[in-house]
Amino acid sequence: MAETTEQAKPLAASAFQSLSDEEEALSTQLKLHQRKCIKCCGCFIAFLLILAVTVLVLFFTVFHIKDPVVRMNTLTLDLEPLLLPNGSFSFRTDANVTLLADISLKNPNFASFKFNNGTTTVLYGGTVVGEARTPSEKAKARRTIHMNVTVNMIPEKILEVASWVKDAISGSLTVSTSTVIDGKVKILNIIKKHLAVEVNCTIKYHFLSQEIQENCRPHFL
Ligand SMILES: *[C@@H]1O[C@H](CO)[C@@H](O)[C@H](O)[C@H]1NC(C)=O
Ligand SMILES: *[C@@H]1O[C@H](CO)[C@@H](O)[C@H](O)[C@H]1NC(C)=O
Ligand SMILES: *[C@@H]1O[C@H](CO)[C@@H](O)[C@H](O)[C@H]1NC(C)=O
Ligand SMILES: *[C@@H]1O[C@H](CO)[C@@H](O)[C@H](O)[C@H]1NC(C)=O
Ligand SMILES: *[C@@H]1O[C@H](CO)[C@@H](O)[C@H](O)[C@H]1NC(C)=O
Repeated sequence: MAETTEQAKPLAASAFQSLSDEEEALSTQLKLHQRKCIKCCGCFIAFLLILAVTVLVLFFTVFHIKDPVVRMNTLTLDLEPLLLPNGSFSFRTDANVTLLADISLKNPNFASFKFNNGTTTVLYGGTVVGEARTPSEKAKARRTIHMNVTVNMIPEKILEVASWVKDAISGSLTVSTSTVIDGKVKILNIIKKHLAVEVNCTIKYHFLSQEIQENCRPHFL
């Protein structure tokens, strides 16, 4: 009896167990399936998130095209040759008067910036008294390039300006310069952006000290 009860118990238990085992197996399978699904969904969502973050980061860094930074580092102007050495207010028109501009261009982008021929114009009293070309060049990604531009001014044009004598007597005169640089940034031939910058300067030249005071401002076109 003891044996049968002992045998029956495990039998019953095993029968009960086998049923619950089946159920359990099914439920574990279901759970596994669910877990797989959750894992899958989690992976997919994580992947989407990573993709979104990557796209956002790229959008704000690599694909975000910024304007170049153009600076007039050194401006040199010498109008002394215009004056005759005998101290009178007579001027020579065969003098070579030049304006030298050391221009730097910083390209903050992750792609190179190619720009066309530009011009640097010198104005005095609203009249163009000199003009020079700035070369077409390529500024590599995140690099700064320097350009030396020499503007040969036309003495006759300066002497033609009505205020010239008054300015010469007062000891200083003010000219303005305008430099325009325009070009393109291309990223993988997909994203193209046209960028143009104009730098206008006013330069006050003092005859006695031969010093200049400059004030430059860039404008984005
Ligand atoms: C100064 O020199 C120029 C050219 O040499 C001459 O025409 C002018 O008369 C001179 N002026 C004086 C005050 O000597
Ligand atoms: C101006 O420059 C030219 C060419 O560089 C030269 O032939 C001429 O003598 C110069 N004139 C003066 C006044 O220095
Ligand atoms: C740039 O300047 C050079 C020399 O003056 C000229 O031959 C060329 O046609 C110019 N290019 C443009 C795009 O203006
Ligand atoms: C520009 O001129 C300065 C002084 O004359 C010189 O040191 C510099 O190397 C020049 N830069 C270029 C790019 O020609
Ligand atoms: C810069 O100078 C040029 C030439 O004088 C002028 O046409 C332009 O309007 C100026 N730009 C600004 C923003 O003042």
